[in-house]
Amino acid sequence: MEITGKTKVIGLFGYPVKHSLSPLFQNAAFQFLGLDYVYIPMEVSPENIGKAVDGIRALNFVGVNLTIPHKKTVLKYLDEIDEEAEVLGVVNTIVNKKGKLKGYTTDGCGFVRSIKESEIGFDFAGKTVFLFGAGGSAWAITGALIREKISKIYISNRTEKNAVLLKKHLSEKFGFKNVVVIPFENRNDERYWKDVHLVVNATSVGMKKGDPLLISEKNLTGSKFVYDIVYNRKTELVILAQKNGIPCLGGLSMLVYQGAVSFELWTGKKAPIEIMKKSVLLTT
Ligand SMILES: NC(=O)c1ccc[n+]([C@@H]2O[C@H](COP(=O)([O-])OP(=O)(O)OC[C@H]3O[C@@H](n4cnc5c(N)ncnc54)[C@H](OP(=O)(O)O)[C@@H]3O)[C@@H](O)[C@H]2O)c1
Repeated sequence: MEITGKTKVIGLFGYPVKHSLSPLFQNAAFQFLGLDYVYIPMEVSPENIGKAVDGIRALNFVGVNLTIPHKKTVLKYLDEIDEEAEVLGVVNTIVNKKGKLKGYTTDGCGFVRSIKESEIGFDFAGKTVFLFGAGGSAWAITGALIREKISKIYISNRTEKNAVLLKKHLSEKFGFKNVVVIPFENRNDERYWKDVHLVVNATSVGMKKGDPLLISEKNLTGSKFVYDIVYNRKTELVILAQKNGIPCLGGLSMLVYQGAVSFELWTGKKAPIEIMKKSVLLTT
């Protein structure tokens, strides 16, 4: 990669950013397509996010990604916000169009695309999903799944009131009523597992070795597809799904695809997914 005065700059604003994998796959993608862009992680402390956003305009960046802790606080500094990002109240991608900054969220779209474009494939229409979690990712994923016309969602979350809040949001924003909140302690009750097609773990359980499995092996084996969005390691859930021959994806897949959607917003070019996956040694 040769950096010159013509090179277009894209940043990643986070605090911290040291461990981010995004520079790896974004720069691999630019290089592969011969695009004169560079993706640079930048540590921006919470009190400096407003100034950093001004810097996008001042320095004429093509755009940036946002990660923890800036995804919500950044909204007030933008000129325009895409509808999905507005609904969710989070932005992970900014595009700079001649000094006007527009915010997007690419997690939901990345999640769905990673399944659709996987070797396994999956037809969402009319399907039932069992979702663990009710945090930021769960909000993005459920919205995207509803757009794909799934028919029913079970939600089980450690703090039940957060699951109830998500159910309310899905009803109000999408008119989607077929949501059943399952008390966390009853999550393995067989009644709920008879008709499940897709299981999604959108909690942080699995990030640490020794974390418990949230689902019994017996219930898991009835499902058709398993997705664990945790991406820092191969989780016990992914291992169990693989052991039982159930098609599954791990969180690196979603990570690469949400990045691919951002890449396409910045460059207007189709992201070279296989190259991006290879750069993070994605095998699940
Ligand atoms: N692959 C990707 O591209 C991608 C993108 C974003 C996030 N992620 C990963 O997804 C996970 C969730 O992220 P997020 O942004 O949604 O976080 P978040 O908004 O903080 O939500 C965390 C969720 O995990 C649950 N949880 C946390 N600790 C738990 C425990 N010990 N037992 C049961 N449930 C627990 C929380 O339940 P309560 O409501 O009870 O707190 C909540 O539902 C993280 O591992 C993150 O790294 C992956």
